[in-house]
Amino acid sequence: MKWYDVFSNFYDASLEKLYFESRKRAVELLELNAGQTVLDVACGTGANFRHIKATNLELDIYGTDFSAGMLRRGQATIEKEQWTNIKLFQADARDLSPSFVQEQIKNEPYFDKIICALGLSVIPDWESVMDKMLGLLKENGQLVLIDVFAEKRTFNTWLVEKIAKADLDRKIGQRLEQKTSNFHCEYLPVKENKVGGKLFVAIGIKK
Ligand SMILES: C[S@@+](CC[C@H](N)C(=O)[O-])C[C@H]1O[C@@H](n2cnc3c(N)ncnc32)[C@H](O)[C@@H]1O
Repeated sequence: MKWYDVFSNFYDASLEKLYFESRKRAVELLELNAGQTVLDVACGTGANFRHIKATNLELDIYGTDFSAGMLRRGQATIEKEQWTNIKLFQADARDLSPSFVQEQIKNEPYFDKIICALGLSVIPDWESVMDKMLGLLKENGQLVLIDVFAEKRTFNTWLVEKIAKADLDRKIGQRLEQKTSNFHCEYLPVKENKVGGKLFVAIGIKK
């Protein structure tokens, strides 16, 4: 993922203002409890960690991404903020399976909560990656997604897709609804021309 290694140098500075509130909301919706394990898939520079850490709960947090550059940024922030209990590992999200987690990350391969922000519009084979994430959840575990859906395609949709190497036509929320129970989705008041479509946060419980 060479482009994201380059993008990591200006990713937070150029985008974080747009997505800050959606991350806060996604973490609120997760209703985290002390002692839980959280996996952030395609965690990038770790922009969600600030919000998870703001809960002040004792949690075990894991972040995974394909891009070494994005992870380096994430690790630098973890060290700067002196956050504990966050481990990062490099992986292709398409490889995430309980046996992979067991071999590479932790003995008990399931998580209470999984978050994936702006990942499924970028990762290839996104449907199978969503299934893999659901497969890594404990019973009644929750998956929360932040992403963008272009109901109407505009020039900005095309531009955002080019810059982020994304596909904003993917019906990510719709698929999460089919695959989970207690599904909930909300749109954030961020201008569509800024993010290429409708910015949403969607959550469901593993069926
Ligand atoms: C738009 S960024 C989102 C990063 C972060 N989650 C956020 O909210 O800022 C997309 C991320 O997906 C990662 N990515 C792309 N393809 C991937 C794959 N196959 N497996 C894991 N991560 C991937 C990129 O490296 C990048 O960090």
